[in-house]
Amino acid sequence: MTNNLLPYAQLAEDPTSEIYISWIDTDTSRSDHDQSFEYRKKGTDDDWEEIEADKTEYPLGDGEYIHEAHLTSLDSDTEYEGTIICEDGFKSVEFYTLPSRLWRRDLVIANQSDIHILSSVSMDDSSEMDDIAAHDPDIYLFTGDLVHRADEMDSDRAPGWIEWFEDYYPRLNDSQLVPMIMSVGNHEVGEINTNELENPEAQDPEHGYYQKIFSNVPDLQAEGKNFGSVKIGNYFQFLIIDSMSATPIEQREWIDNTNPLSDNVLATLPSTHQPFTPGGQRSSDDETRRDYLRDELVRPLAKNPTVKFAVSGHIHLEKRSVPWTVVDEEPSGSDYIELKDGQEGYMVEAESEEEGITEFGDGYRNLRDSWSQWYLEYAMDDGMSNAQYEIIKVDKDNVEVMAKRFNSSREDKIEKKSFPMRTNTNQLGFIGG
Ligand SMILES: [Fe+2]
Repeated sequence: MTNNLLPYAQLAEDPTSEIYISWIDTDTSRSDHDQSFEYRKKGTDDDWEEIEADKTEYPLGDGEYIHEAHLTSLDSDTEYEGTIICEDGFKSVEFYTLPSRLWRRDLVIANQSDIHILSSVSMDDSSEMDDIAAHDPDIYLFTGDLVHRADEMDSDRAPGWIEWFEDYYPRLNDSQLVPMIMSVGNHEVGEINTNELENPEAQDPEHGYYQKIFSNVPDLQAEGKNFGSVKIGNYFQFLIIDSMSATPIEQREWIDNTNPLSDNVLATLPSTHQPFTPGGQRSSDDETRRDYLRDELVRPLAKNPTVKFAVSGHIHLEKRSVPWTVVDEEPSGSDYIELKDGQEGYMVEAESEEEGITEFGDGYRNLRDSWSQWYLEYAMDDGMSNAQYEIIKVDKDNVEVMAKRFNSSREDKIEKKSFPMRTNTNQLGFIGG
């Protein structure tokens, strides 16, 4: 009876003290009834805290409902046990908060994109998720296009997300739920019209299944858009970019006006479905959107010394860029990209890896030809029937990205880089911690 409850966790604004515990109830005899979540520190006799969950109908499905409990004021670096309580049963889950300082262990993030469930060319073997789970990720980042065409809500698309939470996501979880966060793709939210890119009202974010299932990113800032930032203690930060349904201009204004990016973390990871440095071509409209995105966002990222890596999707190619940065003077060589005709400077290869941002792209579907471009260190299109994901590890000295393939017999294709941190770790309280 309780197998009909499909639980998932969402990363919250402060992952050291809060989390979202959500579930889809597929038992339509009771799925619309009020449900709740109770929890306490794992292995204690503490009183259970109980929260009434918010509920939303799962659009154009078979009558499923999405329930969500937002847990706050948790202790950091602590394991919790909890129970989903519905009318005729319950389901136990476990979860944990992240530490406010990184001194005992690594932070491990798994990133994946473009698996396009429900398309004819998709990831259809959910057991491949076991490879990701083997890295024991603390957070699962998805950089867009999880369910094919799920920006359109119709009964054909409705099973896609259910399938994700039934077959794929549970494989990530050992006993504890891994919190998810997404940078939306065009298959979550559609694509903004290119003639509307200067209109901040251009696209209403209220469409697509994503909007019903994930409240975490829209909760991050006042306008409820699909972009935001998450800061974890004093060591790590996500910059979640919406390259599809928000304009690059409004995201630049958000960065300039609200200063969401701290300099006082070890590392910041921007995630964007539309790459800054694509490995291949989609369409001319797509290139127009990419140019706007690059013109607005590349400069502030390059000027923030905590940004070492970026992840992107969309092009469906395994890709790694050269470390790039932004200079103010027009370079004498030919290998550069003008940003806003030079007003925002010039994107160039950095003189050293540590001064530049290395961008990784994922491919599952092999539908596009790869380019040879100065900004690409690596882009391949042969053998791309294999999927790919990244494991990002942060410890107090390094952030490291491993680009991985599910087929472990192809160990030669693993890409690995390690960057020493420039931040003085003494300032961050590691000594004596
Ligand atoms: Fe895609």
